[in-house]
Amino acid sequence: MSPTNKDKRPYKKSSISPSDTPEERVTVVPIDEPVVPIDEPEEPIDEPEVPNSHEKKVARYIAHTTVYACLQNNLVRLIKLIQLTNTQPMNILELGFGGNSQTAIKVAKEFKDNIKLTVVNGSLETINSGKMLAENERLSIDFINENVNTYITRGIAQFDLVYLLYNFHHIADSDMEKKHEKKYFLDACYENMKVLSFLCIADAFFPETCDDSNLLADESLEELYKQRATESQLSTFWGVLEGIGLQKVQDATREANDSYELEMNSFVRIKEKNGEYLVKKSWLVKAAQSDRKGFAVIINKDVNCIGDAILLFKKIR
Ligand SMILES: C[S@@+](CC[C@H](N)C(=O)[O-])C[C@H]1O[C@@H](n2cnc3c(N)ncnc32)[C@H](O)[C@@H]1O
Repeated sequence: MSPTNKDKRPYKKSSISPSDTPEERVTVVPIDEPVVPIDEPEEPIDEPEVPNSHEKKVARYIAHTTVYACLQNNLVRLIKLIQLTNTQPMNILELGFGGNSQTAIKVAKEFKDNIKLTVVNGSLETINSGKMLAENERLSIDFINENVNTYITRGIAQFDLVYLLYNFHHIADSDMEKKHEKKYFLDACYENMKVLSFLCIADAFFPETCDDSNLLADESLEELYKQRATESQLSTFWGVLEGIGLQKVQDATREANDSYELEMNSFVRIKEKNGEYLVKKSWLVKAAQSDRKGFAVIINKDVNCIGDAILLFKKIR
């Protein structure tokens, strides 16, 4: 059926003219000419230096590297094991939570109401960002803003498990040979923890062969740290990469390079002996069992071949 005159719309004459408002203008680029982004610089701009940018780098590193994830997963498995022997919800303490509370959030999410989690950090900024994260995730975590060294000398008798993840090496010692502060820390934990409770130390350790009285001469340590840095770089790259595309690859590469740098910097700090150096596992085991302490070693396990291990001690008397 052909349309009648009544069905036809009246013809309205109009013309297409350039709009006056820039948002409405369309730029057409001929297909065979190279497209040059007008607003974007050719070189990616470095992130602005904000006061806590180091903390942010550490947080991203923790979130993305398998090196960290490996220890976290082992900690979760270990809590599950301890839970088998506990009838009550476990009361757990993390000493030196940080790096955006990654481990605390993971533990709280995994065990929900089956545990009560308290975390301690000396920086108010870290405490506040941790609180925000926990609120966003609707997780119940008690945050304590205090130096771990003073906190352990008082309120830790109520905990079934005290854990430190990459934090034991932060207990600074001016005397690398004698390690007074680390010994004092272990003493204080032992004295203040309740009988039958656990202490878990998950960290990076010096190789047993390393000459820790003369680190500058130890080439194997440098090799190990290059290996650690490469491992962090690779795993961060894959952890960050979200699909394929030049920008995504550039972002992932930048994050991965930050991780490399962080590992190498920690190696430089160890070599410069600013107090935050590692110990050997054999030293830790001996120190946990010596003098007045009677920690039993329940688990002593390497979790990779680049020096990370998890140790579980129990206060048996
Ligand atoms: C490597 S991060 C720990 C990461 C965290 N355990 C995790 O697994 O997500 C070390 C943190 O411990 C904190 N810290 C170091 N020494 C401390 C001390 N004596 N008292 C309280 N917090 C401390 C630092 O501020 C930093 O945030």
